[in-house]
Parts: sequence; C-alpha cells; structure tokens
Amino acid sequence: MTILKIARMGHPVLRAPADAVADPTTPDLRRLVRAMTTTLEDAGGVGLAAPQVHEPVRLFLFFVPPARDPAGGGRGLMAVFNPVLTPLGDERVLGWEGCLSVPGLRGAVARHKTVRMTGLDGEGAPVDEVLSGFAARVAQHEADHLDGVLYPARVEDFRAFGYSEELERYPYPLTQG
Ligand code: NI
Repeated sequence: MTILKIARMGHPVLRAPADAVADPTTPDLRRLVRAMTTTLEDAGGVGLAAPQVHEPVRLFLFFVPPARDPAGGGRGLMAVFNPVLTPLGDERVLGWEGCLSVPGLRGAVARHKTVRMTGLDGEGAPVDEVLSGFAARVAQHEADHLDGVLYPARVEDFRAFGYSEELERYPYPLTQG
C-alpha cells in the first residue's frame, strides 16, 4: 500500500496544466491509480487529481459518499483520464468546497449544476455520462486541478472563505445567486 505525498497550494505542480494521457492501461498509470486510491482513502477526501500527488497528467479520481447523495446510494470511486466537462444548461449552484492541497480551509464556489463528462476510464474505455449536484461539483473541482486552477481562485465572496473550524463555529449562510 502506497500513500503519496500531497502537494500543497504554492507548489508549482498545482499551477501548471497537466498533460493528456495516451494510454491509461500502462503499468505505471495502473500503479498511479492504485496509489492515488489509497492516498485518497487515507486523506479522507472525495476526489484527488494526479497533479496533487506531483504527477502532471490528466487523471482524477472521485466518488460520492452516500451522505452527499440525495438518492442515498452514493457513487463508487472512479478514475477518469483526459476528462472533458461540458456544462449542460446555464444553472450554477453555490456550495462549500475544500481541497486536500489547501488543508484546513473551505470556501463557497459556484459550479455548473449539470455537466457532461467524457474521457477514458481506467481500462481505456470511453466515459460519457451526465453528472449533477455533488458529483458535478467534485468533477469540476478535480478537472480544474488539471488546468492548474485551485478552488480559492473561484471564490467570489471572500466572506465565504476561511478555516473550516471557524466556519463550523460561526456558519456563514450562502445565498444562491
Ligand atoms: Ni482539490
């Protein structure tokens, strides 16, 4: 079991665009997916992009815990290579985000409510599905990592950005807009 070191905000690997992957099924990339899986489980997040573990390739992992799924079932962990997200409709939703590369903080970010996600799965098979709600938010957050963008750059109201501990003690109400 390998637990990888997670890069923190300020490290150059987090601000550079990542490279497309030609073949997700190479031994190195299979090993990377396994190591990212154990790293994500250890860190307790819901998503992890390869640049966060110092690998500048277009790959992210994400899942939806049952508690974050209105339908209750959640969604299993999935690896997506070369993801392309296309917004469906104009609706955006404001919600709280955190990031393993920005520990201890959270902020409110507006994301497209529904997106189409294409790419390749861990076996190199095409992915083409529609995500909405929390899954869409996580995918957009992770896809941003592949373009060198961290969520604080998308915070519009800095009153809704701070230490998680303080925001739990003093909740800041989000107004959808
Ligand atoms: Ni992140």
